[in-house]
Amino acid sequence: MKVVTTLAEMRELRGQLAGSVGFVPTMGYLHEGHLELVRHARAENQTLIVSIFVNPAQFGPGEDFASYPRDPERDLALLEKEGVDFVFMPSAEEVYPQGFTSWVEIEKVSERLEGATRPGHFRGVATVVAKLFNIVQPTRAYFGQKDAQQLIVIKKMVSDLDMNLEVVAVPTVREPDGLALSSRNSYLSPEERQAALVLWKALGLAQELWDKGEKSAERLRQEMTSMIESEPLAKIDYVSIADPETLEELEEVDRAALVSLAVRIGKTRLIDNITLGE
Ligand code: PAJ
Repeated sequence: MKVVTTLAEMRELRGQLAGSVGFVPTMGYLHEGHLELVRHARAENQTLIVSIFVNPAQFGPGEDFASYPRDPERDLALLEKEGVDFVFMPSAEEVYPQGFTSWVEIEKVSERLEGATRPGHFRGVATVVAKLFNIVQPTRAYFGQKDAQQLIVIKKMVSDLDMNLEVVAVPTVREPDGLALSSRNSYLSPEERQAALVLWKALGLAQELWDKGEKSAERLRQEMTSMIESEPLAKIDYVSIADPETLEELEEVDRAALVSLAVRIGKTRLIDNITLGE
């Protein structure tokens, strides 16, 4: 496994590769969720490239960029075990040199849910992912269903801008009790960790009610909301039942629907989702 830190070297190495290239972009502090993407990519491509870059452009002013957890040595050891060929770990100056002024904006789907709470977030994500795609030129790029809106934004970018690669979605990896794995789970105290289960419970409730025939999106949102409000440490950011492509809120769940939510547990903001009627 080779660690690459400059854009020029990554490009040079990419140029020498024949066959399919799988690519997994990450911000590091890797867990089983990331590793699941890596395993899918390893199985489906001749060469596997993983990037680790905590992208300042996708964090808002009051957000956790400075304190975002980092452990590059452990990350590299984990990636080595998975048979990764190249790890691209550029510096912020390398990715955003002085005078950088070009941004990728995906309208509409970026503006709702996460985008409404975190203005500029998806502009930062789309820009860095577009840059990484240009540098790595992957055949296939792997993203987690955990960040459902991010996946939608990236797919839209690839389609609208005619990027020549396949975007592969990988199902969410969870703890045995249902909590979706996230680098931010490391912020939770033991008590908050217990409270964080309410996200999965609320999604389970939506699934259960829908299975029993409840098709009113408003009723489903209300039931989820009351369940989350019964957890004293939880504060709702949004509870959404939306069209899985446009992210427009639904009235009736009479076709596939993305049920997604963002909840603050103490100071930690967690997101999760499921799809109904797939
Ligand atoms: P990061 O949060 O490190 O996540 C990297 C990838 O891992 C994303 O595609 C995310 O959806 C996936 N992932 C995270 N938790 C997962 C889980 N529990 N199960 C399955 N997949 C999971 O997402 C980002 O980084 C950044 O926005 C990035 C795309 C790298 C751009 O900076």
